[in-house]
Amino acid sequence: MHNDPFVIAIDGPAASGKSTVGRLVAEKLGFLLFDTGALYRAVTLAALRRGVPIEDEARITDLARTIHIELIPATVADGRSYTVLVDGEDVTWAIRSEDVDAHVSAVSAYPGVREALKHQQRRIARQGNVVMAGRDIGTVVFPEAPLKVYLDASPEVRAQRRCEELRARGEEADFDEILAAVRRRDAIDSTRETAPLRVAEDAVVIHTDHMNIDQVVDAIVKLARERLEDPA
Ligand code: CDP
Repeated sequence: MHNDPFVIAIDGPAASGKSTVGRLVAEKLGFLLFDTGALYRAVTLAALRRGVPIEDEARITDLARTIHIELIPATVADGRSYTVLVDGEDVTWAIRSEDVDAHVSAVSAYPGVREALKHQQRRIARQGNVVMAGRDIGTVVFPEAPLKVYLDASPEVRAQRRCEELRARGEEADFDEILAAVRRRDAIDSTRETAPLRVAEDAVVIHTDHMNIDQVVDAIVKLARERLEDPA
């Protein structure tokens, strides 16, 4: 019997489809979606807006501890999956800017930032069955998660998907620049000392280069149903 909330951890590198897939899996199962990257992005945006230098670990860590971040159901029907509030202000699209993209990996490498956000992630996830998307959910935040998925794809496919996502929102996207940014972020995320991006021992790895979104979603939903029925 499952009395604790059921956590599905979906980890993987930049633009591997965690948010899109996570949202659809959550919808199909009636779970909440918790996209943890939004927290790291919110701290980065707050630093950029307040003029806190990204190298200033102490002040960035302090920001992570003090700003109030909320992820709530979408408040505007403009293609968003959820709304992100920082100290009450809607920053849902602002945290997706190129500037935030360029600095978020440096911010998320600070141990104090990760520690502050880990507590928030654990608190939120205890509220109900949840799909959590991130980098270290299966390894650090919820090592006891009953289902861990690691979504992978080649850097070229991920850059292509990110380009399409930006163009769909009416923004300009240069494939080469985006590919370079994806590779830079991969390098920082997987070599940092605290909670680097890596595959949890008991994760199911799904390579998505030759799969469409529905195929990936169906594969995860099937695994989740099996484990919900037979937790052992
Ligand atoms: O959507 P995309 O994969 O491009 O990024 P994201 O999931 O929003 O994460 C943005 C950045 O936050 C990542 O590149 C990581 O540096 C950091 N992050 C992390 O360190 N740990 C997490 N659990 C989630 C994100």
